[in-house]
Amino acid sequence: MFMAFVVSLACAFGPQQSHHLHLYMHDFAAGPNVSTIRVGVAHDTGPLLGGSKLWRFGDMVVMDDALTEGPGMGSRALGRAQGFYIAASSKGSDPTLHMSFDLLLTSGPYNGSTLAVTGRDNVMAPVRELSVVGGMGRFRMATGYVLMQTVEWWHGEYALLELDVYVHA
Ligand SMILES: *[C@@H]1O[C@H](CO)[C@@H](O)[C@H](O)[C@H]1NC(C)=O
Repeated sequence: MFMAFVVSLACAFGPQQSHHLHLYMHDFAAGPNVSTIRVGVAHDTGPLLGGSKLWRFGDMVVMDDALTEGPGMGSRALGRAQGFYIAASSKGSDPTLHMSFDLLLTSGPYNGSTLAVTGRDNVMAPVRELSVVGGMGRFRMATGYVLMQTVEWWHGEYALLELDVYVHA
């Protein structure tokens, strides 16, 4: 009885595999390619985070960022990163964000599949680790993690992020 249950589970979900995706994410706060909108704006008396004058505790941004194969915007499109981030630290010295987004793949063997990503983004750290908490399509029942680095940063108007995604699904 127990064995039958195990076997049927294995058939339902198929064999798990490890996947590594390498993506560049383009986050534009301004300009012709703008891909974010600030929907929640904290009141003026909140602490400015990291001395940046850009973020206050409670600010919230919704994004629909392009994902490409290489670092240039003209590089092959691989998908979108759709979700939001929040200035989640109440300490003025700590510019930490909370991020929550779906990586939607629109090209290659994972076309149409998504990964659900969430976690803490301490923007000052050279590498941040986020959690892959699920997915759909080829990534149903996915688990894993994302290593994220800032490659380029333009006065709060543009951030180029490099994502290494390690997934078991
Ligand atoms: C991805 O899938 C969609 C929907 O099935 C299809 O229209 C599109 O052509 C596919 N794109 C690529 C690059 O395979």
